[in-house]
Amino acid sequence: MSSLRKIGFVAAGLLFALSACSKNTSSSSSTASSAPQSSAAASPAGSPMAATSAAPAAANTTGASVYNTNCASCHQATGEGVAGAFPPLAGNPTVTGPKAKVIHIVKYGLQGAIVVKGKSYNGMMPPWGTTLSNADIAAVVSYVRSSWGNAASPVTVADVKAVAK
Ligand code: HEC
Repeated sequence: MSSLRKIGFVAAGLLFALSACSKNTSSSSSTASSAPQSSAAASPAGSPMAATSAAPAAANTTGASVYNTNCASCHQATGEGVAGAFPPLAGNPTVTGPKAKVIHIVKYGLQGAIVVKGKSYNGMMPPWGTTLSNADIAAVVSYVRSSWGNAASPVTVADVKAVAK
């Protein structure tokens, strides 16, 4: 009798433990399955994500191609420039500073002595407003403001239009 009760007690305990356990595993398996799912979603999404982050970069895709075609020869694909000749755009506070100034430089060119990241430059940057559309200038300025660790806001076509010589 007492051993039967014991068994009943153990069985009840087991049932409790099992249900607690299955509750546990069902909840942890739901988090576990959602976690691998999201990380599984994140890694194939890693490439779609690259496509997605290239999708706001769809504006940036234009910016990147305008940059690589027109700017990289001097400022380099890395945005690091060439010390003493072409200033870096990466980590350059003028590039990430007020929009109107960067737009003006790109649209109308720049000439004269400047110091960028402790190095002096005294070159000539051709104006791009004659060869690039306002949309291309908006895209490339947005690109340089947000590449290589730069994290400044994009500029719009209207911003570019608004900057007069
Ligand atoms: C032929 C070489 C050349 C090309 C191509 C070129 N740049 Fe420049 N860029 C320069 C030089 C040189 C300067 C510095 C001018 C000076 O010393 O006053 C400069 C300066 C700049 C600056 C200002 C940097 C500062 O700190 O004031 C920005 C922004 C810039 N370039 C962006 C661009 C963009 C965007 C393009 C492509 C549309 C581009 N550049 C294409 C040579 C070039």
